[in-house]
Amino acid sequence: MMAPSGVSMKSIVILISGRGSNMEAIVRAGAPGARVAAVISNRADAAGLAFAAKAGVSTDVVAHTDYAGRACFDAALQAAIDAHDPDLVVLAGFMRVLGADFVRHYEGRLLNIHPSLLPAFPGLHTHRRALAAGVRVHGATVHFVTPELDGGPVVIQAAVPVLPGDSEDSLAARVLAEEHRIYPQAVRWFVEERLTIVGGACVEVAGVRPACFALHLPPLDTE
Ligand code: GRF
Repeated sequence: MMAPSGVSMKSIVILISGRGSNMEAIVRAGAPGARVAAVISNRADAAGLAFAAKAGVSTDVVAHTDYAGRACFDAALQAAIDAHDPDLVVLAGFMRVLGADFVRHYEGRLLNIHPSLLPAFPGLHTHRRALAAGVRVHGATVHFVTPELDGGPVVIQAAVPVLPGDSEDSLAARVLAEEHRIYPQAVRWFVEERLTIVGGACVEVAGVRPACFALHLPPLDTE
């Protein structure tokens, strides 16, 4: 994809651990003025690597099992990422907790997607926990990464209803469809330099109608 003349292409590196459907959504959507320079996985068997290679994106594996501890792994991962001189690093189903030094190195240019409406349900098994909690609304959040797990400034969220009879799988599928919509959008906003972190906590999105930050749920109704 070409950048406007005189402007250099932004470089995006995406980290995955498995299926890679969010990475796929971002690669397919594209972002004018940017290119996905590399997809890096911590698992050699990550299914998403095949899609990336087929799409002509450079792939790499930095296996956490090859390193004695988190600091060594983080350093190796950072070296692999920085080889692509990234403007933006995107965690897309990357299932390793990253250390504070790593996170600080990419401060303001590291995004993550989490399958819940943060700050509800940080951590694992979000769909199971949402069902157990009996919430009516669930969803997904794209946020800047800070050293606090799933705690950084929110860029965009999408909400979905929790329906009677939902299983963990049916709820996960409804949320995932929204993830595929909001993550490419967040990446595009970043590339367009519309995102500003204000006061370390909130993200301002320049030139976007507030209604674009969330999915509208169906109107209230009675049967
Ligand atoms: C997504 O639900 C993401 O929010 C979570 O793990 C899942 C990864 O899916 N962190 P994929 O690898 O992007 O298909």
